[in-house]
Amino acid sequence: MRIVVLTGAGISAESGVPTFRDADGLWEGHLIEDVATPEAFERDPDTVQAFYDARRRAVASVHPNAAHDALARLELALGEQLLVVTQNVDDLHERAGTRNLVHMHGELRRALCLACGARPVWDADLVWRPPCPVCGERMLRPDVVWFGEVPYELDRIEQAVVACDVFASIGTSGAVYPAAGYVALASAFGARTVELNLVASDAVVPFDDARAGRAGDLVPAWVDEIIAAS
Ligand code: APR
Repeated sequence: MRIVVLTGAGISAESGVPTFRDADGLWEGHLIEDVATPEAFERDPDTVQAFYDARRRAVASVHPNAAHDALARLELALGEQLLVVTQNVDDLHERAGTRNLVHMHGELRRALCLACGARPVWDADLVWRPPCPVCGERMLRPDVVWFGEVPYELDRIEQAVVACDVFASIGTSGAVYPAAGYVALASAFGARTVELNLVASDAVVPFDDARAGRAGDLVPAWVDEIIAAS
């Protein structure tokens, strides 16, 4: 059974990572769009670097929850038949043990060099303009996909979505494309679709099975069902 799981901020909420659209839309006094666009970075790089430095530090002190753990358990059972595609920039999936993982919106724990394109693992603050470990230029930015930029590994994701038997969406509002379109794509290619979210999202193509509740409760139960059926 080939499964694609798409995750969003809701899966990390119980770990203490704030979501985007449940919150007031303001973090540290900034509109998300003011710190999450290439234009914002050009206009005020210090503010943008400081914003992501703070997020990187905050995520370093939280832990995976039962939902991340359950998906790692599902990978142990299914191996490469399972692909987890996350919109999250935290590293809680990998810390829980998931390996077959795509970070389509990038990672807080990497930097992106605007001079040479390197994406080094990065745990320190960027606001001080440290040199790139590959080319030495002081042009590192957070390796996070901003509004108006193209997400990572879209071909790989789309191939997996059209080929899967089950498509599950966990903890995402379905407000941002292309991720929001994957349920329609999976459905069109015959997959069974399931949503595990605090509240049912208003997806254009409805899910076959929409379960409302906390990811920490819903995901372990769903994983048990999948493992029992496979
Ligand atoms: N369990 C399950 N779902 C939850 C929980 C929880 N404990 N808490 C919140 N949710 C749900 C909310 O109901 C909401 O539908 O998680 C969803 C979070 O939605 P958003 O805040 O919009 O986050 P997400 O869908 O990941 O955002 C997508 O938008 O700003 C960009 O690039 C950013 O990757 C992000 C993208």
